[in-house]
Amino acid sequence: MTTQTTAEATSTAVRLVDIHKTYPAREPVHALRGVSLDLLAGSVTAIVGQSGSGKSTLLNCAAGLDTPSRGSVVVGGHDLTTLRPDDLTRFRREHVGFVFQAYNLIGHLTARENVRLPLALAGRKVDTAWESALLEFLGVPQLMDRLPGELSGGQAQRVAIARALITRPAVVFADEPTGALDSKTGAAVLQVLRDTARELRQTVVVVTHDAQVASAAERVVVLADGLVVDRLERPTAEQVTASLLTKGR
Ligand SMILES: Nc1ncnc2c1ncn2[C@@H]1O[C@H](COP(=O)(O)OP(=O)(O)OP(=O)(O)O)[C@@H](O)[C@H]1O
Ligand SMILES: [Mg+2]
Repeated sequence: MTTQTTAEATSTAVRLVDIHKTYPAREPVHALRGVSLDLLAGSVTAIVGQSGSGKSTLLNCAAGLDTPSRGSVVVGGHDLTTLRPDDLTRFRREHVGFVFQAYNLIGHLTARENVRLPLALAGRKVDTAWESALLEFLGVPQLMDRLPGELSGGQAQRVAIARALITRPAVVFADEPTGALDSKTGAAVLQVLRDTARELRQTVVVVTHDAQVASAAERVVVLADGLVVDRLERPTAEQVTASLLTKGR
């Protein structure tokens, strides 16, 4: 597999073409019913929608954590749906960062050990200059010797963001990264994601149910029942709420 340098700002970092996802069951669940989306390199996109609209499914398919039933997912020039499982794992490790709602910090490791974990897993050396800059930027260098249980929610999420960015991934996927935070802290965390995206020319995709948080993104995609029902450019929180109320149900 070839490695790819960071794409130009105007190029497409993530392309989803007619993604369908059906979960098999006695009554199969059509979680995604034909979603197409182009995400420009260096852009921040929020995905909003009611519970069960398919947000996490979409994010997991885009990140290569789950496979769509139909359609293609192209990230940084690689069609993820054609990669073998071990190539997909390597691809994710090298090019993709994840932030989850519950932080997923490992409880018995210090904040620093948590931040460095993706590098350890990939057998890569720590770029200490980059690590310091990142921690400084996130305002957490003084917390690095603490265990996750000794951090507030906002602090833990900043550490989780540092962990997601330590490998300098081209694309960062975040599923409800602010879900456990109050609106103000949540907006601040998204602001940090947006600033690092700008700094690093990263592509960021954030799932959120919070209109305030979503309005910090450049583009908001509204999902309903497995379909994209609205796309908003630089909306206000009120515009996001209005779209959710009129189209997102
Ligand atoms: N593993 C699974 N097996 C069967 N059905 C699933 C599975 N995962 C999700 N679903 C269904 O697919 C649909 C979309 O789920 P998804 O988790 O993507 O929604 P969501 O928009 O992220 O919701 P929430 O806001 O509650 O997190 C739902 O109807 C859900 O019940
Ligand atoms: Mg979800």
